[in-house]
Amino acid sequence: MAGVSDSHTLYQTALELLKTGERESALALFPRVVPEDGDLVEVHLAWAEAAMPGPDYLEILTFMHKFLQPQSYVEIGVEFGTTLKLVSSQTKAVGIDPNPQVKGTLTDNISLYRQTSDDFFKSGELSSLLGGPFALAFIDGLHIFEQVLRDFINLEKHASAKSLVVIHDCLPLDRRTASRTRTTQFWSGDVWKIVPCLKNERPELNIITIPAYPTGLCLISGLDSESQILEENYPAIVEQYLTLEYDNTVDKAACFSLIANDWPCIKDYLLSI
Ligand SMILES: C[S@@+](CC[C@H](N)C(=O)[O-])C[C@H]1O[C@@H](n2cnc3c(N)ncnc32)[C@H](O)[C@@H]1O
Repeated sequence: MAGVSDSHTLYQTALELLKTGERESALALFPRVVPEDGDLVEVHLAWAEAAMPGPDYLEILTFMHKFLQPQSYVEIGVEFGTTLKLVSSQTKAVGIDPNPQVKGTLTDNISLYRQTSDDFFKSGELSSLLGGPFALAFIDGLHIFEQVLRDFINLEKHASAKSLVVIHDCLPLDRRTASRTRTTQFWSGDVWKIVPCLKNERPELNIITIPAYPTGLCLISGLDSESQILEENYPAIVEQYLTLEYDNTVDKAACFSLIANDWPCIKDYLLSI
């Protein structure tokens, strides 16, 4: 692994390679820049930007709201309200977060629930709050696998065959930033496990991942509100995936069902729902 001065030199070389358009060579260097137990957020961000060119997650979510014009929207994990505020005034929206720090005011079409997603779903009221099944949902709450799985299970009960679930942070940069225990500022947690999990346990779902900066977006459609498979097998599924570690050499395209991060491919998927 690189020492501090080696790390600096490698980083400068990687940036030079990016400037001269040698992206693949830069991407081969980035993993060597961060020392094994070091935390260089600037390097992780530059690495992610190089690995995931094209529109970022906010641009894609903005596009989805304009293109789909969803009648209803639910967001798990609101924080400052950046993504919740992307909804149009025509969309009935519910945001859920135990500790929201929304800047400014939310419009009347948006209701904010200050509670954990587990507590929120206990009431079973999502569909009645929205006046029917949700059209679009965004999962971006607690970044651990079993919570994301529970959020998906709870949401699917309020889905129609035309609903779309989007999950943030599904595409790992490397093993360390994608582990359950956080040791780096740039961190996506083990949310990524939801992709192989759903692909294996629910092969009938239509799942793709957009390699969008900074940590990917997974899109899931073909939902079935009657499906019991995940809930009935929840303990066994969690046990199976919990100890999984991300393999830096995995074929990402196959494992995460990647599509190109460009508007024609994204539109094609949205039109297929
Ligand atoms: C990454 S932030 C969300 C960012 C926001 N979606 C955006 O892009 O603008 C994650 C949020 O999830 C919230 N959170 C943590 N645990 C949660 C839970 N169990 N249920 C719902 N939200 C949770 C945190 O309070 C935090 O505000």
